[in-house]
Amino acid sequence: MSPASLADSAPTQDERDLAQYESRIDRPPQLKVAEFSREGRLRHVIFSGQFPVDLLEDLADTADKIRLLSKSRTGQDFLLNLLRHKRAMLYFTQPSTRTFLSFMAACQILGMTCNEVRDPTTSSETKGETRFDSIRMFSSYFDLVIMRSPIARLAEACAYLMNDLERTAARSVPIVNAGSGADEHPTQALLDVYTLQRTFQFAAPQDSPAASRLDALRRDYPALRTGLTGKVYGFCGDIGRGRTVRSLAALLAQYEGVTLAFVAPGHPALRLSDDLRRRLEQRGVRVVELESLESSLDGASAVEQFDALYMTRIQKEHNLETDAAEFARIDFSQYKLSLDQVRRMKPYAPILHPFPRDQHFGEIPPEIDNDPRAMYFRQARNGMWVRAALLAHVFNVDHQVARFYHEQYGDWTATRRIES
Ligand code: CP
Repeated sequence: MSPASLADSAPTQDERDLAQYESRIDRPPQLKVAEFSREGRLRHVIFSGQFPVDLLEDLADTADKIRLLSKSRTGQDFLLNLLRHKRAMLYFTQPSTRTFLSFMAACQILGMTCNEVRDPTTSSETKGETRFDSIRMFSSYFDLVIMRSPIARLAEACAYLMNDLERTAARSVPIVNAGSGADEHPTQALLDVYTLQRTFQFAAPQDSPAASRLDALRRDYPALRTGLTGKVYGFCGDIGRGRTVRSLAALLAQYEGVTLAFVAPGHPALRLSDDLRRRLEQRGVRVVELESLESSLDGASAVEQFDALYMTRIQKEHNLETDAAEFARIDFSQYKLSLDQVRRMKPYAPILHPFPRDQHFGEIPPEIDNDPRAMYFRQARNGMWVRAALLAHVFNVDHQVARFYHEQYGDWTATRRIES
């Protein structure tokens, strides 16, 4: 091997930077949670395992309050002053519409100033600057870095970098993972859970103490209860490569008595990974793997049994040439939702999708959009509210939101009944 080719195969500084955190990254999630918190609140947001159920409830409560306050000029002005002194950097080197824009809108609701690097060819990384140097530079100018990267665990490594800097009294800011490789998308899971929390209140504007929507549903589903426990959640599509599925499944696994049913082709790249299955089962979750939405589940077609259905896109951009022949034999039409199937779903079961959906594949055709159970546009809007709630939590202004809300509206629980 020539000296030149030896030099070519040497690890880059970016690779060495990541490698130095490998042993910390490889630890089980429960050993890492404390390092990403300070005084009982999240400092860095890296994976969904950082969100116990009580924190999910608190975030939903704050999101509800921000949502309602945003409806009035007085509320908007209050929110705009909350974090006026803070600046956020959005470092998104992988395409994004919803996560980028909803984080930006969330920052704007709370008065934060934002800046962005979306295309690394416009940054000094083209001159050889490492990602870690970029992050340190962002932390020099901003109070928070929200980052999306195609590199799994890069956000986690950046959080360790910030913790190490903090120990030396150097400037250090919170890191928020807005999607890292095929690994995790924790804030997507937050908005998915928030959408489920709101849906499973079964509240309707016409509800009265004498007659509620839940009472009406219970005539056909006597065991139906409010909340996320005891429900059957279906996930359909590209399960193996979907970071949103990984993050959401980990959150749902915290609720008692849930069944998680994964509908995916049997190919190892696309079906539920062994490590996620093991982690879910260790938590006592009933895990079911199915080949199609019509596969039998508890005596009926799976699609008719779900209390909620989470559709996903087949992520063809990750297809490997070596899989092409096997993929060609898969009947992918089984991972598309049809109008007929929607008609057979439970009348209250929300249809979720992290989006984008793929117009060429058509996993959810637009004719389903008008069904009241089609929740995906509302779900995306919920992302703005729950991300604003997350920022309020990280910067420790969530009780100010609660206090002001109480002053304005009195009844703290009333927000849960407000339609989006
Ligand atoms: N759901 C989601 O992460 O969408 P974007 O890729 O558009 O941000």
